[in-house]
Amino acid sequence: MPPAFGVRAAVQADGAFLGDMVVEAANWRQGGLRPRHEVMAGTEHSRYVSGWMRPGDAGFVAEDRNGEPIGGAWYRMLPRSDPGFGYVGTGVPELIIGVRPIWRAHGVGRALLQRLCEHAGAQGYGRISLSVERGNFATTLYRSEGFAVTQSGLGRDTMVKRLR
Ligand SMILES: CC(C)(COP(=O)(O)OP(=O)(O)OC[C@H]1O[C@@H](n2cnc3c(N)ncnc32)[C@H](O)[C@@H]1OP(=O)(O)O)[C@@H](O)C(=O)NCCC(=O)NCCS
Repeated sequence: MPPAFGVRAAVQADGAFLGDMVVEAANWRQGGLRPRHEVMAGTEHSRYVSGWMRPGDAGFVAEDRNGEPIGGAWYRMLPRSDPGFGYVGTGVPELIIGVRPIWRAHGVGRALLQRLCEHAGAQGYGRISLSVERGNFATTLYRSEGFAVTQSGLGRDTMVKRLR
């Protein structure tokens, strides 16, 4: 059966939806229910979407048959002076990914991740990074897409994929 979702490039108007995906990522543990206002209160999480879409931002959005967004993956370059959880160095974008709960485990996340990494490579980036909390099954997905742990922190791992 053909997949019941499509993937398109993210646009400026996707900012609010991508914010929802940041909240999903922050609440990845089952039963994790930190409300949006709490997740977005500090810069820890909001830095991944604030001011979307800035020069250098790029992403993809998965949509269901009705054109409703169901998942998103994007990258952003965060500065050394205000780094993200997965910061590895100047010139290495950091990615974020989230899929709406009812759509998980249907291949949406993998499709988004693949499109985003292809795009980052085509843009000339040599590497892309991310941060994942230990215990999140997303690590399995990342490993199978060529990411490897480069740094282990307090409860979190930084993973990097070589794009070229
Ligand atoms: C992590 C996430 C983005 C993955 O997207 P997804 O659409 O659910 O993933 P996919 O269906 O493409 O699955 C990819 C792989 O993940 C693994 N996986 C998926 N669902 C799983 C589950 N419930 N338990 C264990 N592994 C699972 C499998 O290894 C799967 O590989 P397969 O294709 O060989 O079956 C999504 O589940 C999500 O939004 N989770 C909450 C937010 C989050 O954790 N974001 C990442 C923060 S670092």
